[in-house]
Order: sequence, then C-alpha cells, then structure tokens
Amino acid sequence: MKKILTLHGVNLNMFGKRDPKQYGTITLQEIDARLQSLGKELGAEVECFQTNSEAAMCERIHAAFSEGTDAVLINAGAWTHYSYAIRDALDILTCPVVEVHMSNVHARDEFRHHSVFADIVHGQICGFGVDSYLLALRASMALLPNPGVA
Ligand code: DQA
Repeated sequence: MKKILTLHGVNLNMFGKRDPKQYGTITLQEIDARLQSLGKELGAEVECFQTNSEAAMCERIHAAFSEGTDAVLINAGAWTHYSYAIRDALDILTCPVVEVHMSNVHARDEFRHHSVFADIVHGQICGFGVDSYLLALRASMALLPNPGVA
C-alpha cells in the first residue's frame, strides 16, 4: 500500500459554496471521498488534510518528511501564488509532489498564472475540476516503484 498525502490549502474548505463557475459545486468532502476510492483501486491509502493556517500547512509537510509518505498532492489555493514558506517546506520533501488546481489558473487573473512551486514540483495539473486531483493521484502512483509488476 502506498501512502499518498493530499494537502488542501486556504479557502478550499469552501468548495461547494465558493465561485461555482470556477469550482463547480463539489464539496471538499466529496473530493476526498473520490480520491480515497480511487486510491483503493490503485493500491494507495490517501490521507487528506485541509487548513487555512500557513503554519499548520508547513507543519503537516514537515511531518510528511518523517512519515515515509510516498507522494504528496497539493492544492495550496492562493498560497500557490506567493507562499515562499510553503515552497521551502515542500522543497524539503524527497518524495514526488504534484501541484493541483481545480480551475485553469492560466485562463484567470494574471496573479494566478504564476506558481512559486512550479520549479520544485514534479508537475502541475489544472483545469479539470475534481479530475485534476484524480489525474494527479494516477500520475503520482505511476511515478512510484511497483515491485509487483515486472
Ligand atoms: C485554485 C486556484 C487558485 O488561484 C485559487 O486561489 C484557489 C483555488 C484552484 O483549485 O483552482 O483557491 O487553487
């Protein structure tokens, strides 16, 4: 069983209520349930964590370093665009990190076009709604060694 940690940042607890044109009406709990059910199919235990506190997010990332997490999926919300603290925390990790966005950030306000994580993550997936997360889970699993398969 691989250990995949999904991190949701600031304001993402409001998915379902917030700007449905960008994010649809799916709630964070539903996103987490979809991830956990796909995880079961793929042989991954998916833990999901959301916080609106930048310090708590950094501390969760630090814990992931010591826990033997196999991969991290992160949608940091607006922190993506300016948080050097979260960037530095992610940069400590040795496992693959995949950046996720529900919306196509490149088709939105200019400040959303830049990610301060872009060059330290394995890759980015944006614009597919909940499928951005599911694709990120598949992509992260494909990066991990699978001793069962020749
Ligand atoms: C987001 C895009 C960010 O620009 C925004 O601040 C969010 C959500 C997304 O999932 O599309 O909070 O990360």
